[in-house]
Amino acid sequence: MARLRLGVLISGRGSNLQALIDACQGLAFPAEIACVISNVRGVQGIERAKVAGIPAVVVPHKGYPDRESFEADLTRVLYAHGADLVCNAGFMRILTASFFDEWPDRVINIHPSLLPAFPGLRTHERVLAAGCRFTGCTVHFSRPTVDEGPIIVQAVVPVRPDDTADRLGARVLAEEHRIYPLAVRWLAEGRVHLDGDKAMVSETETPSGILINPAG
Ligand code: GRF
Repeated sequence: MARLRLGVLISGRGSNLQALIDACQGLAFPAEIACVISNVRGVQGIERAKVAGIPAVVVPHKGYPDRESFEADLTRVLYAHGADLVCNAGFMRILTASFFDEWPDRVINIHPSLLPAFPGLRTHERVLAAGCRFTGCTVHFSRPTVDEGPIIVQAVVPVRPDDTADRLGARVLAEEHRIYPLAVRWLAEGRVHLDGDKAMVSETETPSGILINPAG
């Protein structure tokens, strides 16, 4: 079966991109990275893509009069590389409804908390300030509202009494690197379908591939 082609959107370090690159290097992994797009020049994620021999394109958002025209160029680059699924991996731009219209149920994101708790930035600081005993990370379908959308997979990370945001963040990041490839695998195997606002994951693979959406 053809491998699912990922367009990975980044803005920085790209450690989740690296986790996807490493997973896709496995011969049995059902996805491959078609291209990496960064909205910021000179970031580490672009170097990671180049080292792996993956097309890397910089689309600097600052050059555009509005979000829609920036997103139209993102879509052009994604189409040009034959992407099937858009994977946000530390991509620090808000995407508008018009982008989601172009990629319906075809955009996923990773977030360093157990959504719907702690959307937004500085999650680990806020988890510690709230005295949470557990936190974690989430891979979910993206929607126009930031850090919202049907949950595909989560991992739980216990908070330790002596944690700092950095220490906790490092343990959460290790789990991110585990669950992002897992979510991609499930999607590529056609094991994820949407039931209203929920994503359901089935035990069995669907040979026809990605995303069966009975509603649409
Ligand atoms: C990760 O913590 C991810 O969950 C969040 O942004 C961070 C990106 O890190 N959305 P990296 O660029 O993948 O290393």
